[in-house]
Amino acid sequence: MASFKELEHQGWVEKAHLYDDHFAGVTRQAINPLLEGLGDVAGRSLIDVCCGTGDLAEAAVQSGAQVTGVDFAEPMIEIARARVPLAKFAVGEAENLNFKDECFDLATCAFGLWHVAEPDSAISEAARVLRPGGTYSYTAWLPPDEGWDMMGLLVTAINKHGTMDVDLPPAPPPFRFAQAAEAENALRACNFGAFTFESRVAIWRGQTGDALLDLLYKGIVRAPMLIEAQTPDAKQAIISEIRSGAEAFRGSEGITMRWPYMLARATKS
Ligand SMILES: C[S@@+](CC[C@H](N)C(=O)[O-])C[C@H]1O[C@@H](n2cnc3c(N)ncnc32)[C@H](O)[C@@H]1O
Repeated sequence: MASFKELEHQGWVEKAHLYDDHFAGVTRQAINPLLEGLGDVAGRSLIDVCCGTGDLAEAAVQSGAQVTGVDFAEPMIEIARARVPLAKFAVGEAENLNFKDECFDLATCAFGLWHVAEPDSAISEAARVLRPGGTYSYTAWLPPDEGWDMMGLLVTAINKHGTMDVDLPPAPPPFRFAQAAEAENALRACNFGAFTFESRVAIWRGQTGDALLDLLYKGIVRAPMLIEAQTPDAKQAIISEIRSGAEAFRGSEGITMRWPYMLARATKS
């Protein structure tokens, strides 16, 4: 069986060209809060790890930062390069950054850590490339029972018609870095202090349950793996349940769902 890292890599390579149309509308909402938390970034060097299609890089360049983006999915980097010519981009792994020690003022990772096979190494690498006093900031999705609409619907549908215990490679605990106490331990072990954790909410809005399924299948890697790993009957029932369950979130502007996340910041000692 392919490893967690291989499946993640394959998934993001396949979906890079769909990301902006299907998922970036949600993740983009975290960029301003994340950048604002870094203070004035003008003239400062910033490495954005798991940079995807370059959304955060583009905003940081517009604020005057000198930006380097890193992602292990080659097509993500191709899109980011074409989109943000004033930033530098490199294909590379969060766990093994190909940069010298202490060469950046700021490091960011937006919705990347739960996709990384060795997240502690990714944090340790962010610490290594940051100058003393530099700031690391990341966003991470909160656990399903903390105010989610989409994740609640997905988990309920899977538990009702199928199982979470499917034949997928072992993955790191997904919500560790969204839980302040655990995240603090991991960050402190990498020489970070002065922690700040804020819960925030992004919103997805669509017109139909099929639009939600499109987002899950085209914009995200892990959720469709879980659905596709079910028996054919369970899979059909889960898909129907998501399509019809989305209607419970319909209001005057269509279907509106909350995607809560943690915005974390820490300073390198
Ligand atoms: C959910 S996307 C987030 C993209 C972007 N930061 C954003 O907020 O739109 C996760 C990204 O992490 C990248 N990624 C996952 N594991 C990685 C790793 N070990 N090293 C580098 N990039 C990784 C994926 O290729 C993907 O582009």
